[in-house]
Amino acid sequence: MGSDSVSTSTKPPQGDPSASLLSLNAGSLSDPSNPHQKNTANSVIFTSLILVTCIALAAASAFSFLFFSFSSVPRTDSSSASLQTTSRSLTKLNHPVVLLISSDGFRFGYQFKTHTPNIHRLIVNGTEAETGLIPVFPTLTFPNHYSIVTGLYPAHHGIINNYFDDPKTGEVFTMASHEPKWWLGEPLWETVANHGLKAATYFWPGSEVHKGSWTCPPGFCKFYNGSVPFDERVDTVLSYFDLPASEIPVFMTLYFEDPDHQGHNVGPDGPEITEAVAGIDRMIGKLIDGLEKRGVFEDVTIIMVGDHGMVGTCDKRLIFLDDLAPWIDIPADWVQSYTPLLAIRPPPGFAPSDVVAKMNEGLRSGKVQNGKNLKVYLKEKLPSRLHYAASARIPPIIGMLDEGFKVEQKRTEGQECGGAHGYDNALFSMRTIFIGHGPRFARGQKVPSFENVQIYNLVTSILNIQGAPNNGSVSFPSTVLLPNPHKF
Ligand SMILES: *[C@@H]1O[C@H](CO)[C@@H](O)[C@H](O)[C@H]1NC(C)=O
Ligand SMILES: *[C@@H]1O[C@H](CO)[C@@H](O)[C@H](O)[C@H]1NC(C)=O
Ligand SMILES: *[C@@H]1O[C@H](CO)[C@@H](O)[C@H](O)[C@H]1NC(C)=O
Ligand SMILES: [Zn+2]
Repeated sequence: MGSDSVSTSTKPPQGDPSASLLSLNAGSLSDPSNPHQKNTANSVIFTSLILVTCIALAAASAFSFLFFSFSSVPRTDSSSASLQTTSRSLTKLNHPVVLLISSDGFRFGYQFKTHTPNIHRLIVNGTEAETGLIPVFPTLTFPNHYSIVTGLYPAHHGIINNYFDDPKTGEVFTMASHEPKWWLGEPLWETVANHGLKAATYFWPGSEVHKGSWTCPPGFCKFYNGSVPFDERVDTVLSYFDLPASEIPVFMTLYFEDPDHQGHNVGPDGPEITEAVAGIDRMIGKLIDGLEKRGVFEDVTIIMVGDHGMVGTCDKRLIFLDDLAPWIDIPADWVQSYTPLLAIRPPPGFAPSDVVAKMNEGLRSGKVQNGKNLKVYLKEKLPSRLHYAASARIPPIIGMLDEGFKVEQKRTEGQECGGAHGYDNALFSMRTIFIGHGPRFARGQKVPSFENVQIYNLVTSILNIQGAPNNGSVSFPSTVLLPNPHKF
């Protein structure tokens, strides 16, 4: 199948279903109102009319129930794919298996940078978020990876930044902290283990942490080591499919650092990005080949995502905290993180609201370089769509930067242009990809963008297990997945 079939596929029909229902009602009810009926049997006719009406209404409501259940599954194009109304049954595996793949910093649109035949195989025969996956705020690696596997916003899963302080104990969280106290919520590998099922993690933030029934079992839980070649990661995941059927983990993660680190170096438009995207595509190809050789490609559910996007940054879009000195002194040790998430915790004795007011006064004065591109908030006053307040770990003062701007303490030697992420998750540049391929995903289907906290419920639905409470919507999976009439 040529990749041009992507462009021929259409959006799900958005027509008003009630219009169809009205025409159905009219059709069912028109028969009894025959103008040639005799008067002598008026009451009989009237009674039967009411009866028929009742039956017709019942039929109509039954039909409407069916109609709505099916119309909640977005339709595909005019190809044979549109005939799919239920999931495909497993042929070789005896249990659904979900392989969750993350390509770090894979900004939505990178899939068009170069020839990506393997990613496009997943898109053509799978379900894609047509305008990308929406990350959570802050659009950083650890908060987002952990939202994907817990279905929780960072305020609720506890990983509110890549590094932060615990205000109560003064302890510092870094990306190497594996103590369970930091990692709240219930990640998918724990949910799976709690159901007596097996999971395997080839890197994912939080996967090394022992929680509930998850003990990070040797051989199935890899401690993070960025030097392990991507090929080796793929080979190891493929080797799990050589295990006896009952031993195959039902949930697996696979993580690639690319193209995030190239993005930071050169921004989203550098040629290094194109190369890294081609490299990720080769890994997807290797994976598909390996699964096909084992006869399980059509059985395995592959969910390919990124954690966030990337935007170009340059030195002339800088804001310096020292420039605010005429209004308020912000010493470096008040600042938990600078850019793109400015997070400030003033010491006791300084009212956060006072600090916010003075900072904003300076930023709006017209006398601070790029001042209008930074807005400072008490965290409770941030737009509620950011869900970034309900945790003591979140410092009381948060600065929101405009796209591509950076904040630093003081003027230093100029640096090269590069790339960054962490900005408002409403920015299109922060979006990443979502592709689902497997028995529960319609072929060639496009769905509207959604937040990554929905993925937890999607995975538990595919695995037929009960998930923990989370911030995804309970009804979301039925709008994306094919209904499952098979037991497995
Ligand atoms: C999509 O799936 C069909 C049915 O299995 C297969 O014939 C076709 O080659 C697949 N297309 C791509 C691009 O892999
Ligand atoms: C990390 O992986 C590399 C490459 O496989 C290996 O040489 C190295 O020993 C590993 N480091 C640790 C700490 O395991
Ligand atoms: C998110 O989930 C947590 C835990 O279930 C809950 O306490 C919180 O109210 C939820 N927040 C939103 C915005 O849904
Ligand atoms: Zn990242």
